Amino acid sequence: MRRRFFIDGDDIKNIFDETNLRGLKLRNRIFRSATWLGACDDDGNLSAEIFRTYDELATGGVAAIVTGITTVSPHDALIDGIAQFHGDKFISQHKTLTDTVHAHGAKIFLQAALVDSVFPIDGELYRVPINLLTDENISEVVELFKAAAIRAKSAGYDGLQIHAAHGFFLSRYINHDTKILGDILDAIHDVDKNFCVTAKINGEHCIDACRIMAAHGLDAVEISGNYTSRDAKPFVNEAYFKNFAVAVKSSVPNLLVILVGGHRSVETMNQTLNETGVEFLRRHREIQPIM
Ligand SMILES: Cc1cc2nc3c(=O)[nH]c(=O)nc-3n(C[C@H](O)[C@H](O)[C@H](O)COP(=O)(O)O)c2cc1C
Repeated sequence: MRRRFFIDGDDIKNIFDETNLRGLKLRNRIFRSATWLGACDDDGNLSAEIFRTYDELATGGVAAIVTGITTVSPHDALIDGIAQFHGDKFISQHKTLTDTVHAHGAKIFLQAALVDSVFPIDGELYRVPINLLTDENISEVVELFKAAAIRAKSAGYDGLQIHAAHGFFLSRYINHDTKILGDILDAIHDVDKNFCVTAKINGEHCIDACRIMAAHGLDAVEISGNYTSRDAKPFVNEAYFKNFAVAVKSSVPNLLVILVGGHRSVETMNQTLNETGVEFLRRHREIQPIM
């Protein structure tokens, strides 16, 4: 028998609801999930392809776009074509990007990341194993995120997403110590306590990290995954990380949740919103016109 997920009442959520996140007015509940395009030059500068893609996404009607992974460290390990944002020289091109998106009524978040644990030692760069990082290294990481928040505000971003998923530096470091997430959030709130901050995290074993981030004022967490679930079959199954979101919602009920992973049909997206309690959906590969 088919289950009914919708009941009559004002609290039924729909992907097209106008809503808000820390006072940011959002025209619906759909975000474009962060997507590395490999389209920056070797110095991390944005390209015409990036401006064109974001222009199309904003025109398409999403509420907000999260930029592709962007490193905030001048000495990070680099992925081919990754954006860099670790000096004031990057601000003006990012301002052009945020203006482009805002012109079409969408919001935009910077996805701030460290790819790997690369630190200078005696004038040379070393990839330092996570368990050998010093307090000084960790303070540097916190300062890098703080500096990124200052620049993101100058560039007109509506908020920042801390990338703590998918095997990049923070997702590995938080297996060792989740305290860093609270420290980064405190540092960003020192810049501006009203700047919207989200974090992306793998749903596997994320409850403690979510509790810490909620306690330090995170505005919303985006639940992604490592594709270890049998349900995670892109283009076949839908909403395949939803069980992680349900676990976060029941353990940290006050934390707003954004769920990514296989959101395709309007019916299933609305069902997911109402069945899991999450507030927002992030669409990535499945993105196609629905409005
Ligand atoms: C080509 C490609 C690039 C991606 N780039 C990023 C990225 O820069 N940052 C990020 O957090 N996730 C990135 N992701 C992951 C997606 O944002 C999303 O979390 C994941 O694909 C699950 O959603 P989907 O199965 O609906 O595509 C990328 C995925 C793909 C396939």
